[in-house]
Amino acid sequence: MKVPLLELRHISVSFEGFLALNNLNLSLQAGELRAVIGPNGAGKTTFLDVITGKVKPTSGDVIFKNCSLVGKREHQIARLGIGRKFQSPRVFESLTVFENLTLAVSKPKRPLPLLFDNNNQSKNLDQIHHLMNIVNLQTRKDIYAGSLSHGQKQWLEIAMLVGQDPDLLLVDEPVAGLTDEETELTADLLRSLTGDHTILVIDHDMEFIRRLNNPITVLHQGSVLCEGPMSQIQTDPRVVEVYLGRPEELEK
Ligand SMILES: Nc1ncnc2c1ncn2[C@@H]1O[C@H](COP(=O)(O)OP(=O)(O)OP(=O)(O)O)[C@@H](O)[C@H]1O
Ligand SMILES: [Mg+2]
Repeated sequence: MKVPLLELRHISVSFEGFLALNNLNLSLQAGELRAVIGPNGAGKTTFLDVITGKVKPTSGDVIFKNCSLVGKREHQIARLGIGRKFQSPRVFESLTVFENLTLAVSKPKRPLPLLFDNNNQSKNLDQIHHLMNIVNLQTRKDIYAGSLSHGQKQWLEIAMLVGQDPDLLLVDEPVAGLTDEETELTADLLRSLTGDHTILVIDHDMEFIRRLNNPITVLHQGSVLCEGPMSQIQTDPRVVEVYLGRPEELEK
């Protein structure tokens, strides 16, 4: 068995005695696309907060590329190669699509050498065009990000994240507020990134999760309830029980 890219070992998080995560175990192989679902309050956001260093676990360990993340600061973890997309798009609205992507692919640690390095500039330009292509924004190159639709802003942000080339992309509820068509396109976009990238995506939208067509982890009360493909998750009586408040989600 290969060493996982990311491993959460016996993670618990207590908020003043309330266990938001309770002995959570999860591992992710490089190149994998994993969906994480679970009812409200299951601990999904807390789980991402633990990986990115926003919340320190009460116990347990997070191992990423053979290195423990517990105790590291958020910017250190980001620098190790973990990128996070928050629920609401965080793009620079007064910059164009092209300018947003230029910022994303520039390596801020070496701005001067980059400025005078023609080779690097053309490499960046190629990458920006590649990124615009994968999120279908080529024709929006010179449009201000503020004028894009909500879905296009989400895609631009995903492209910016990919441009930073993190080893692991954490994507939090990317299709909330998107049209059905935009939702389908977002699923296809994430699938197209699989293999070259390792992606962990959280969402409530079962149609979206189904279209991702990849293994699913179900969280409940801070622990993993079960893992498997949609066909298995959908018929698991424990999952049906947990989602009983919203049976329509599973019947689709
Ligand atoms: N800072 C905090 N202090 C106290 N309790 C918290 C804190 N953050 C989260 N919780 C509680 O921990 C539990 C898990 O919260 P979390 O936000 O991780 O759930 P979630 O699965 O993301 O839910 P949702 O689907 O509603 O976004 C919830 O009961 C929440 O009220
Ligand atoms: Mg949440």
